[in-house]
Amino acid sequence: EKAFTVAIDGPAASGKGTIARAVAAHFGFAYLDTGLLYRATGAKVAEGMTPVAASESLSPQDLQRDDLRSGAAGTAASKVAAIPEVRAALVAFQQGFARRPGGAVLDGRDIGTVICPAAEVKLYVTASDETRAQRRFAELSPSDPDLTLAQVLQDLRDRDARDSARATAPLKPAGDALVLDTSHLSIDEAVAQAVAAVEVGM
Ligand code: C5P
Repeated sequence: EKAFTVAIDGPAASGKGTIARAVAAHFGFAYLDTGLLYRATGAKVAEGMTPVAASESLSPQDLQRDDLRSGAAGTAASKVAAIPEVRAALVAFQQGFARRPGGAVLDGRDIGTVICPAAEVKLYVTASDETRAQRRFAELSPSDPDLTLAQVLQDLRDRDARDSARATAPLKPAGDALVLDTSHLSIDEAVAQAVAAVEVGM
């Protein structure tokens, strides 16, 4: 079986994870949520490791911790993600995953620009700040009753600013990425458009 890479990038809570998972299931491709690599690195740093040691020592169990989805974990991830040596430590694993036989979908911030610039299909998934904040709020507020929508919006904007402004592998669409704005799309509509884009690339 041949390798076939679908690179999906975009800002926080744009819907890229949901779309990536659905595209992978549709085509029977493997899926890697690369944000988990940075979230797990950030979690190990919060426990006292240096960022580089944390990124170099990631294990499969580290990626399965149940505290990686919180807002705090996202903020910690975006801080370690600005460190070039941390990013460098994670490149080989991601590129190996991308070229596994049978197809792979990776989502993140720099998949189409840095990790897999030759990916067969590149999508940049985005949505308005307000839409993204509402989605993230709906996801996080059940387990965090004190959370406010305004706080979620501020955290997303801070994280996007950090991800877009960093010198190494900043968040931006690849020149040849198809931009998918999900602000006014249902999940099914967004997935259908992404599946159609992959079919064009096959
Ligand atoms: O996608 P997710 O929100 O889980 O990513 C958490 C953080 O990890 C992002 O805000 C970003 O700073 C970093 N990240 C990255 N490059 C990737 C994936 C995630 O810098 N490919």
